[in-house]
Amino acid sequence: KPGKADGAKGLRFTPVEPNTTDAVVVPPGHDQNVVIRWGDPILRGAPAFDPARQSAKAQAGQFGYNNDFLTLLPLPGEHGRQLLFANHEYTNEELMFPGYDRNAPTREQVAIAQAAHGLSVVIVQEERRTGKLTAVPRHRLNRRLHTASEFRMAGPAAGSPLLRTSKDRTGTKVFGTLNNCAGGTTPWGTVLSGEENFNQYFANAASVTDPETKQRLARYGMTGGATSRKWERFDDRFDLTKEPNEPNRFGWVVELDPYDPDFVPRKRTALGRFKHEGAEPQLTADGRAVVYMGDDERFDYLYKFVSSKAMRKGRTRADREHNLTLLDEGTLYVARLTGDSPAEEIDGSGKLPSDGEFDGSGQWIPLAAGDRSFVPGMTADEVYVYTRLAADKVGATKMDRPEDVEPSPRTGRVYAALTNNTARGTEGRAPADEANPRNENKHGHILEMAENWGDPASDGFAWRLFLVCGDPEDPSTYFAGYPKDRVSPISCPDNVTFDAYGNLWISTDGNKLGTHDGLFGVATAGDRRGELKQFLTVPRGAETCGPIVQEDRVLVAVQHPGEISGASFEKPQSQWPDGPGRVNRPAVVSVWRKDGRRIGV
Ligand code: FEO
Ligand code: CA
Ligand code: CA
Ligand code: CA
Repeated sequence: KPGKADGAKGLRFTPVEPNTTDAVVVPPGHDQNVVIRWGDPILRGAPAFDPARQSAKAQAGQFGYNNDFLTLLPLPGEHGRQLLFANHEYTNEELMFPGYDRNAPTREQVAIAQAAHGLSVVIVQEERRTGKLTAVPRHRLNRRLHTASEFRMAGPAAGSPLLRTSKDRTGTKVFGTLNNCAGGTTPWGTVLSGEENFNQYFANAASVTDPETKQRLARYGMTGGATSRKWERFDDRFDLTKEPNEPNRFGWVVELDPYDPDFVPRKRTALGRFKHEGAEPQLTADGRAVVYMGDDERFDYLYKFVSSKAMRKGRTRADREHNLTLLDEGTLYVARLTGDSPAEEIDGSGKLPSDGEFDGSGQWIPLAAGDRSFVPGMTADEVYVYTRLAADKVGATKMDRPEDVEPSPRTGRVYAALTNNTARGTEGRAPADEANPRNENKHGHILEMAENWGDPASDGFAWRLFLVCGDPEDPSTYFAGYPKDRVSPISCPDNVTFDAYGNLWISTDGNKLGTHDGLFGVATAGDRRGELKQFLTVPRGAETCGPIVQEDRVLVAVQHPGEISGASFEKPQSQWPDGPGRVNRPAVVSVWRKDGRRIGV
């Protein structure tokens, strides 16, 4: 077992053992603080959090619920401060509201939940000589964007009839962003955030009569009657029989300029519409932006977008305006992966084929560029709005729930978390293939891609599985060939990021090994490639999100603490973060070394 504080540079800490402790557990010699939690006031005039008297007005000025993606950006001119961006994926009304009746939510409860979704920008201040971070309320750049905030549709499908509703004849102006999951940070200083399971907010697909509309809704997971939150009772735009195009305005990557408090965030139609997890860019040698993206659904796809224009490095207003158009023009691709081992050697058990590796080659298949469609029978607008249907037609590879995808800033190799897919190989569903080699895949895997010629804009790549997750004693697991008696168990990889030394960090969601979710670091190169070590675990019912690994600090978003079947406001199933009998509050946690030195060295 990994028991010692040795390891690759950046990973020299004593790993945290798998556990079910109702706390954030960090390695010995490290300390932590809660940076900001659900309900903390961030805007001027917002009141202190009082769960018994929460209001929509208060919530609109407070940090939202269920923080997921995080990024920290520099704040020049303000010593010891950084800009924290967080998104708020969804709400859990049972845990949020006293006496919540899921059959009869009140108008105010719905409005609070809507205000608790979305995005937050909050300035944070570091304490001298520790890694402690605290929020700076009422800073002029602090911002909340939620379900009533204005967003703009941008790029080639903006204004399309498919995006028009009775309230917006232009097809360009939409209120809110929903179910933001992971995201990305652009080299031009903006943030991206992926709208994921937006389908769950739209009611009454079962009553839609037009067969084509119905089929399109079904491909995006909209088939039922009432939704669980019942927003449709208070707002017609969530009722598909009244506004069949409203869901077409969700499922996009959102771009926000967090340095401009008046910026209207854009939904980037050129990047396609699906259940977006993250969107992480890197630049080509000539400065074009390449954005990698996953569609988090069983048997869905991996995508990338390549911009046609190059980023400008200057700092003038004109340069910034130019860079804010990069994600509106370019080509959208979907991935097809072909294994190099004979199909009969992939038996669905996870047993390595005779060449010793799950690997092969890949192709990026173009779907659309500007107003040009490459998909027979679909217009460009249709490709952008119904991207899943376009990818179905071109023979893309059905993956085991593509979550976060991120290029290594060191090597350019791209890592995709495939979180799990228990339906793989079950009756009527696609069987294991070399890129998704286990049937009923409970624990997920990590794919490593190397673009041809090292060019992110290439139309082909080589790939291999870097990790096949689970308990290392399970023979179907694989840790890049590293000895399995020297790695931590891992299950259900979700978010990925890199540290300054090129190590990959992975956070998990839904650990199927019976212990809590957590954060792991693993070397991707050198003798210790594949040596995976657990850095922290999160409280009961929580998933680990948004990891940021800086030299002197690790930041995680602890999402949905206490979310366990049967839990309610009155009967919380976790004591985190505020102790026994208190409402659970999703929160951002900072971790640092007590001796003030850099993490993992
Ligand atoms: Fe919201 Fe795909 O995790
Ligand atoms: Ca996620
Ligand atoms: Ca092979
Ligand atoms: Ca997930």
